Amino acid sequence: MKKIALLPGDGIGPEITKEAVLLMEEVGAVIGETFQFQEGAIGGGAVDRYSTPLPEETIRLCQHSDAILMGAVGGPKWDRLPGHLRPETGLLGIRKVLNVFANLRPVHLFPSLSSSSPLKEERVKGLDLMIVRELTGGIYFGQPKERRTVEGKEVAVDTLTYTEDEIERILHVAFKLARKRKKEVLSVDKANVLESSRLWREKAEQVALAYPDVTLTHMLVDSAAMQLVLKPNTFDVIVTENMFGDILSDLGGALAGSLGMLPSASLSENGPSLYEPVHGSAPDIAGKGIANPVAMFLTVSMMMELSFGFTEVSRWINQAVEEALDEGYRTKDLTVGDEKWVGTEEMGRVIREKFRTLAKGERNG
Ligand code: IPM
Ligand code: MN
Repeated sequence: MKKIALLPGDGIGPEITKEAVLLMEEVGAVIGETFQFQEGAIGGGAVDRYSTPLPEETIRLCQHSDAILMGAVGGPKWDRLPGHLRPETGLLGIRKVLNVFANLRPVHLFPSLSSSSPLKEERVKGLDLMIVRELTGGIYFGQPKERRTVEGKEVAVDTLTYTEDEIERILHVAFKLARKRKKEVLSVDKANVLESSRLWREKAEQVALAYPDVTLTHMLVDSAAMQLVLKPNTFDVIVTENMFGDILSDLGGALAGSLGMLPSASLSENGPSLYEPVHGSAPDIAGKGIANPVAMFLTVSMMMELSFGFTEVSRWINQAVEEALDEGYRTKDLTVGDEKWVGTEEMGRVIREKFRTLAKGERNG
């Protein structure tokens, strides 16, 4: 039995979490595993009900589960609240409490979506990279983080700090991952300006010595953003600090056809991992039944592989997504011109059906 904490959150979070649960039930039925689901409050919904974006009970639930699946947090309703009550603070809080410092964000262009990408087909063809984003340090968490009044003027302060330990451990994750891929690590920083980036670069050089079979290169983040648009398919493993990883992964979403396609896994050294799609709560389309459930399905796929070692299940989910796309199924975000599209539930149903067929076929064959 696997205990899975569900944190549906705000906006489209609940709609796509519902689809993910149906998928995991299907997985359970096919492989004879029981998934036990327990729901926790996080984000704006939690602020409304418990006056905090991260109730203690949610923290306990997560700590006592085998894996955590999160939808999304945030929305205009809570945008004017002070920092400690913002929905996003709940998400940052749970990342910190669980110490999930390694955020893996694969950016993969499914071949039949090449026309959904804003880039020319020949440029984006073969896009398949992995952003390894540091998730529990940097400017998101550094102290002080506050408002002050200085000589009668309002001043806002954020602090970008990294310890060598924080930098080293995320680099090790990237180098280990690179060994399973093309044996290339690209470390992205802003070492021409930031002291924290200069330490990052030094540590990258040091850590690289332990991986003589992996090539390390460096790129400044502004240049990396440009190169990602110019030659996205030349990238493999990218490792970078928290905020750069946040920004570059949305760029990756656009390249892959839609942010609605990108999954992510957030891992700690030990303890349960947190799985979250890269996209946000999309309040503008919440409740309309048109959200793309694919990022969430691919996120479940990562959970199956990384938390439970169900590599076949993971492969079947990915393949089911690919087949549905190949057959022309699209959610609205993926359409070009006046292409036909299906809603969240229909897309979910089609992919689950394909998953079932694939799984049964292979298990009997
Ligand atoms: C993400 C999101 C979050 C982040 C927000 C919601 C706090 O943009 O997971 O990419 O910035 O990390
Ligand atoms: Mn983001």
